Amino acid sequence: MIDKIKAHIADVENFQTDVAEEVEKFRIEYLGKKGILNAFFAEFKNVPNEQKKEFGQTINELKTAAQNKVEALKNALSDKQEEKGVYGDLSRPGEEINLGSRHPISMVKNQIIDIFSNIGFNVSEGPEIEDDWHNFTALNLPEYHPARDMQDTFFIQTNPEDILLRTHTSSVQVRYMEENKPPIRTISPGRVFRNEAISARSHCIFHQVEGLYIDKDVSFADLKQTLQYFTQQLFGKSKIRLRPSYFPFTEPSAEVDIYWGLKTETDYRITKGTGWLEIMGCGMVDPNVLKNCNINPEDYSGFAFGMGIERIAMLLYQISDIRMFYENDLRFLNQFKSVI
Ligand code: PHE
Repeated sequence: MIDKIKAHIADVENFQTDVAEEVEKFRIEYLGKKGILNAFFAEFKNVPNEQKKEFGQTINELKTAAQNKVEALKNALSDKQEEKGVYGDLSRPGEEINLGSRHPISMVKNQIIDIFSNIGFNVSEGPEIEDDWHNFTALNLPEYHPARDMQDTFFIQTNPEDILLRTHTSSVQVRYMEENKPPIRTISPGRVFRNEAISARSHCIFHQVEGLYIDKDVSFADLKQTLQYFTQQLFGKSKIRLRPSYFPFTEPSAEVDIYWGLKTETDYRITKGTGWLEIMGCGMVDPNVLKNCNINPEDYSGFAFGMGIERIAMLLYQISDIRMFYENDLRFLNQFKSVI
């Protein structure tokens, strides 16, 4: 008899199910009024005295095992139910909603757009896949012009070399001049592509904002004032200098340096000890470019300028590696959450 009870204990311990009805069946089978346990308890009086103690202990063992098993199976079932439920545990803490932030390139681009729209510039856009005319030829860079090598180009169609990824947004200015009559005041932000080795300071994809102003009697002095207004608004600094330079589409041409100052060690490092930083290229629109876009250079003149947004963002936020803009590392992007 005792062996029979021990066999039941083993059965109870091995019993497994995840079906609620089977748990209940199991409970009734062992613990119910007409169940196995009560049957053994009823046997108790027939057991010889010297076996009563062991018999009693073994039955109690079976009872505890059966009770524990029923309890454990019920708990497992209710856990499962909770997981499956539509809402689960309603009292648990809410899940964090992660708000995104603007990318620093977009932030700086928007800042530049705001500054120029305050003085009457609108925003123009154009295709990233361009033709030779808008990216080069119309900009006074005819075929075989050596200055084409200044911008290592990704060609899409190579025979003839006609379709390409734009190397600057000056192409948008050509399109704008073709479609609009002066006065023209427009800035063209956008993504540009150059076949350059990727390093901490340059990338094969980057962003530019180029500006164009065409009207009667626009002079170099207007250009300088506009740039001073811009640097004052963006950096809080209006001391600039214009260094003679060369671009095929402007004459005269200049590089714009801003006086950054030499107050901190960082200032020394980023200006290489000079206090000056180059921030963009500019010049008076070459009469040939105006002619190519059906604007009479006898009647109109204008200026143009162009800058890299990454470069400006790196200065504003003291970012030392241009590659960070494209890696989408949340540790980097999250730092711009508090900035509008
Ligand atoms: N397009 C020039 C560049 O990509 C920048 C520039 C624009 C220079 C307008 C002068 C005038 O480097």
